[in-house]
Amino acid sequence: MQTALLLLLSALSSTVMASSEPTARMSMAPTGFNFDVAVGAAYFMTNEPTGNYLVSSAIGLDGKLTLYEAVYTGGVGSHGLPPPFGLDALFSQGSVGVSTKKRFVANVNAGSNSVSVFAIDPLNPAQLWPIGKPVSSGGEFPNSLVINNAGTRVCVLNAGKVNGVSCYKFDHTGLTPIKNSIRSLGLNQTTPATGPPNTPSQIIFSQDETQLIVSVKAGYLAVWDINSDGSLSTTYNTVSGGVLPLLAQPHSREERPGCLGPWPVGGVSVPIPNQGASCWSVYSAESGNFYIIDVGISVITEVAVTNSLNSSIVKQYNVVPDGPIDSSVATLGKKDFIYSLAANVTGLSVYSVNGPGEATVYQRLDVAGPAKAAGLPINRTNVQGMATFIGF
Ligand SMILES: *[C@@H]1O[C@H](CO)[C@@H](O)[C@H](O)[C@H]1NC(C)=O
Ligand SMILES: *[C@@H]1O[C@H](CO)[C@@H](O)[C@H](O)[C@H]1NC(C)=O
Ligand SMILES: *[C@@H]1O[C@H](CO)[C@@H](O)[C@H](O)[C@H]1NC(C)=O
Ligand SMILES: *[C@@H]1O[C@H](CO)[C@@H](O)[C@H](O)[C@H]1NC(C)=O
Repeated sequence: MQTALLLLLSALSSTVMASSEPTARMSMAPTGFNFDVAVGAAYFMTNEPTGNYLVSSAIGLDGKLTLYEAVYTGGVGSHGLPPPFGLDALFSQGSVGVSTKKRFVANVNAGSNSVSVFAIDPLNPAQLWPIGKPVSSGGEFPNSLVINNAGTRVCVLNAGKVNGVSCYKFDHTGLTPIKNSIRSLGLNQTTPATGPPNTPSQIIFSQDETQLIVSVKAGYLAVWDINSDGSLSTTYNTVSGGVLPLLAQPHSREERPGCLGPWPVGGVSVPIPNQGASCWSVYSAESGNFYIIDVGISVITEVAVTNSLNSSIVKQYNVVPDGPIDSSVATLGKKDFIYSLAANVTGLSVYSVNGPGEATVYQRLDVAGPAKAAGLPINRTNVQGMATFIGF
């Protein structure tokens, strides 16, 4: 593609802006690292108030991660209120997203009310190229985003004083706001958001992409209808109590909306014992089960959900001291790996799924040390997001 041109432009812009802008890129790759071995990449963000960086790691054929680099998003991060600050800066899931179809990464900049997009380099999936400048999120304290299956549309959730949703068209020039897609949630909120209660957690599309759904930590989902031109219904409907409409197809959607309260809430459920903060979850096709991630006690609970919405605990995994938050499942061959941001230790953890009830810790990778060596500001209380791309 236009990699050489992008390289040149990037070199020029970093020369011109060097005095006023944060460093554009910081290498974090180990000496002698060869990106030829990468089959994909994993991305999270530092979400630092001094400058938000996406940190990319290569995924090898064996599923293991190797840190690659940090790239400046053009925005700044933020942390919700009140102090003392926990490991859930944005009270959300989905602050970083990937389109495998259109090969791009998107992230929110909660402290600058903006959204950034990056092209994934065709030869090295851990190499990201900014597409244009960040665009306004249409509200305040953006904390989650969703990309449609075709990779042509991005919708963003704002959780601050000006809260609600907004949608964009995506093409090679970046994000273009869609008319009549800025819609309010009407929450009584602050900027930064005050939570976790009463904050919106995640934005997703319905399976057929005709509705936009936001989970709110006040026990309901807000649902907008999406018109054919991408605009949204002026008002939203609420579905109270939980995730029934989503869990009705537990195997078709990889995620449930994050953090509605104690999990699970739909159907005939088995309470998860000793919950701290079960706010993140992922689904593995290999095991057919969900993995509910609790940062408060560093436990991952594997849950089976039947089509009739009965759920049962398959196994609980103690991952102290990881403090796992945002996570993403990637499939290599027929094997699933869970890539998890281990916020408490400022690191990354990879779990190998190995079938139902058989998950194991596969790799633990320190990020704090390499970040310090690279001069990258990072703080365990701010890091957020996790998205994976498998490209070869
Ligand atoms: C919004 O929340 C603040 C702080 O809790 C409260 O003082 C205020 O009365 C609330 N406003 C409305 C309209 O509910
Ligand atoms: C759900 O599980 C309970 C207890 O395990 C069982 O008695 C019940 O028949 C199940 N319901 C459905 C609809 O499968
Ligand atoms: C977080 O890390 C500390 C050590 O730095 C450890 O004592 C603590 O148990 C960890 N917390 C969790 C929830 O794993
Ligand atoms: C990380 O953030 C917390 C909360 O703002 C702060 O107290 C702490 O000093 C920061 N740590 C570093 C290493 O900057």
